[in-house]
Amino acid sequence: MPSTTQQILVIHGPNLNLLGKREPEVYGTQTLADIDAMLASAAKDLSTSGREIEVASFQSNHEGALIDRIQEAMGIASGIVINPGGFTHTSVALRDALVAVELPIVEVHLSNVFAREPFRQESYVSGIAVGVISGLGANGYRFALEALVGQTAA
Ligand code: DQA
Repeated sequence: MPSTTQQILVIHGPNLNLLGKREPEVYGTQTLADIDAMLASAAKDLSTSGREIEVASFQSNHEGALIDRIQEAMGIASGIVINPGGFTHTSVALRDALVAVELPIVEVHLSNVFAREPFRQESYVSGIAVGVISGLGANGYRFALEALVGQTAA
């Protein structure tokens, strides 16, 4: 039996509940449930006999709900993978919450935001993230999870 549990919080921002139906040519055909199931399975693969990796996933279309969930991770999660969706480009409050919890953050975007409209190339999160993954589709979440597990390995 694993002796410790390491939790990684995965935050999905607004409109990501529509994945699979929403602009599939940009965001792919996988649903949010598919991505969360893939992450749960990746967490299992990353677990060892001494350390269980657990993923807690949360999606909301509401800025305050996202901030509340990030605050709850304080002292519980060991890192946060976040696709802030449209709030990437607008939300000082979301950035402040991510700074406040003092956890390593990896920012993920399904699409390559740098190849899109200029307003998508501005992020309030990138400057406080340990890394940013953009344009690798759903795999980006898995790479972010692997990076955080590596970062926080004792
Ligand atoms: C996104 C990119 C954002 O610009 C957009 O608002 C999203 C999704 C992505 O995953 O590519 O909602 O974060």
